[in-house]
Amino acid sequence: MLTFSFLTLFPELLAPFAAEAIVGKARERGLIDVRLVNMRDFSGNKHLKVDDAPYGGGAGMVIRVDVAERALASLPPADEVILLTPAGAPFTQAVAEELATRSHLAFLCGRYEGFDARVEGLVTRELSIGDFVMMGGEAAAACVLEAVARLVPGVIGDPDSHRADSFSSGLLDYPEYTRPPEWRGLGVPEVLRGGNHAAVAAWRRAQALERTRQRRPDLLASAALSPQDSTVLSALGATTQELQAWNAPPAPVPRRPRRKKPQETRKE
Ligand SMILES: C[S@@+](CC[C@H](N)C(=O)[O-])C[C@H]1O[C@@H](n2cnc3c(N)ncnc32)[C@H](O)[C@@H]1O
Repeated sequence: MLTFSFLTLFPELLAPFAAEAIVGKARERGLIDVRLVNMRDFSGNKHLKVDDAPYGGGAGMVIRVDVAERALASLPPADEVILLTPAGAPFTQAVAEELATRSHLAFLCGRYEGFDARVEGLVTRELSIGDFVMMGGEAAAACVLEAVARLVPGVIGDPDSHRADSFSSGLLDYPEYTRPPEWRGLGVPEVLRGGNHAAVAAWRRAQALERTRQRRPDLLASAALSPQDSTVLSALGATTQELQAWNAPPAPVPRRPRRKKPQETRKE
């Protein structure tokens, strides 16, 4: 069972994502659990105020670190405490796969100008869902929930169904078709209706390679490409230089700088 705990000022925004569709069914089946924690319950004051003005001045309000600390302390121990922030590492399929192996994930959803920076001493990682700024972390939390929960064994009926998904194999997914066989003059590729499974698999792999080359060639550098894939890419017009770059071993990931512990931060 994988438990997601979301610390938020707006639990009602996340409630439908936790209750409906496949996530809701997975909860009913005991495969995952979702806990919504209202950080206002840990304000420590009768006005339920969780934020304050930023030191140094400027617009907006900042969520207090002691509120986040008390809210986190109310949870059972988490394998990971994740701060959702535009300044975080990009949330990718590889990160989703890693998180799906954990037992308890806690997420801090910000609002206003975000959290007091000292919250970094309470978290194991920071994640961003893209290079844009939203008004709060709840939509980011819903994205992470949707992406991670479907990777928990048993949540999706067919365990093979996500292996070909975009990014799982390092490539974008191949195009899919269903009935009707003819729609507004557009047919379905003949190979998909011929019943030859090997031919279907080869066509799908070639389509995934072609789509990835056209739309996200950056992905090819870290995809596991077989000699057959290189032949297909070459037939699609890839140059020798491109093929060499895509087949080169990936560059090492730079190590993260060590985090400061809370007691090491400057006191005002
Ligand atoms: C208005 S934003 C704060 C933005 C912050 N001042 C900055 O520029 O980095 C409020 C909250 O929304 C959430 N948020 C906004 N954009 C996000 C993104 N791209 N990924 C993850 N969380 C995001 C974070 O939890 C953040 O604390």
